[in-house]
Amino acid sequence: MELKHRAASLSEDLEAIYVTSDRIFWNSLPVNIKDIEWSVIFNGGTPNPETPCLKIEDNGMIEFLNPGSGCENLRKNLRLYLPFCLAPLITKKVGRPLAISHFAQTLDGFTATVSGHSKWIGNNENLVHAHRIRALVDAVIIGNNTLRDDHPKLNVRHVEGRDPARVVIGDNNHSVQSLLDSSNAPIIRFVSNESHCFENENIQHIIIPKENGMIPGISIMKSLYEQGIQSVLVEGGASTTSRFIKEKQIDIVQYHIAPILLGKGIPNFLNDHSVTYIEDGLRFHSFHFHPIGDAIMFTGYL
Ligand SMILES: NC(=O)c1ccc[n+]([C@@H]2O[C@H](COP(=O)([O-])OP(=O)(O)OC[C@H]3O[C@@H](n4cnc5c(N)ncnc54)[C@H](OP(=O)(O)O)[C@@H]3O)[C@@H](O)[C@H]2O)c1
Repeated sequence: MELKHRAASLSEDLEAIYVTSDRIFWNSLPVNIKDIEWSVIFNGGTPNPETPCLKIEDNGMIEFLNPGSGCENLRKNLRLYLPFCLAPLITKKVGRPLAISHFAQTLDGFTATVSGHSKWIGNNENLVHAHRIRALVDAVIIGNNTLRDDHPKLNVRHVEGRDPARVVIGDNNHSVQSLLDSSNAPIIRFVSNESHCFENENIQHIIIPKENGMIPGISIMKSLYEQGIQSVLVEGGASTTSRFIKEKQIDIVQYHIAPILLGKGIPNFLNDHSVTYIEDGLRFHSFHFHPIGDAIMFTGYL
């Protein structure tokens, strides 16, 4: 959280960040470089050769310049959470929020049953992880069907941290009562000019005309960025996320893969899309898998 707050208000150019057990050093080295537990290098810098040292790409991908010895858990946490702490430094170059899509899915690739039931595909560890990401991003985005089916709170309950702004996309006037009851964090509704949603003093309505029947994801991200939102978590459902992925507005895709089979259900991705050849499937610049409780998490960088 300290990194996130400081990164948002930073005016000088960054050379490196050095983190010791009790302090964060911005650009300046601690007296003893042996005290550095991990470091991020932007333009030069002097890392401790014994401990993890990394750089971050524009899509949030972490590259370890030096992995450090041991410290597997530290490396995992840096990979998973550091991009969101330092999002303002990344988005300055990209001009839109850093965006992650996170889903819990079954082994056969479904995010809900045919009837729309999805609680809970993920395990407890996944819940804590999802709330940690919520605490680190500026906004959480969902589609209208998820609002209608899940009545989500979209606040931070399983870790410490501030609730993100809650963003809902879609024209139908499904109730936002669960959002109003659960937090004072802002609620933003993206609608088209064909919307049936009523204006409400507790909700910010942003009207964007549809193109080919949809509100362009690129316009939604641009509008959020103009309001100071530097990082977003797209929590679903599949049609909302797929639209953002198709428009290249998602940087990181994360699937919690649970040991459950459903046979039929709502697919995780691009349910209106198919390719003829395997080589035309969506690929990732880089990816990794790691265990999370009794399941596996896949993180891929687009
Ligand atoms: N397993 C998980 O991790 C997870 C996470 C989230 C949700 N879910 C499940 O997923 C299911 C819902 O998924 P879904 O794919 O059916 O629906 P969805 O993505 O939640 O919502 C789709 C709706 O959102 C609106 N929308 C989204 N993007 C839009 C855009 N660019 N332009 C215009 N409108 C847009 C439209 O609403 P209007 O029709 O009102 O205009 C559209 O019909 C629920 O059953 C939920 O439980 C699972």
